[in-house]
Amino acid sequence: MNKPKIINLPKILDKRGNLSFIEGGNHIPFNIERTYWIYDVPGGEQRGGHAFKLQHEFIVAMSGSFDVVIDNGNERKVYHLNRSYFGLYIPNGIWRQMENFSTNSLALVVASTKYNEADYIRNYEQFENLINE
Ligand code: TYD
Repeated sequence: MNKPKIINLPKILDKRGNLSFIEGGNHIPFNIERTYWIYDVPGGEQRGGHAFKLQHEFIVAMSGSFDVVIDNGNERKVYHLNRSYFGLYIPNGIWRQMENFSTNSLALVVASTKYNEADYIRNYEQFENLINE
């Protein structure tokens, strides 16, 4: 089974400014079906708090910083994302929450599926039951 991991992205350094990019199936281990972003998060708010049955995703802090707390049913790990040249890959079947958003932070999420509410597991007990099946 795939594991969550930090993936470093290409970084083209230039005196005019830096450039990074993501290619589906190349820098991240899935094809890109959707991109969405989370912004203007009020101080102290949390996002996420769910798992996906099938969707894989890759999260980048395009601006500012935030924490991604991931939980595979046995252990929790916190990743602090604060640069736009790396991100966190999260396979399906992992509970994840985003918190500690800095002012003006911008979270980019690249996903392997189109939006489908039926793919969400929003209940932690249900998540634990699925993991232990
Ligand atoms: P949700 O994924 O629950 O947000 P978060 O995990 O960041 O807390 O989505 C919030 C709402 O937005 C929910 O009603 C579904 C809707 N939504 C879409 O319509 N399309 C999308 O691509 C996403 C990610 C969410």
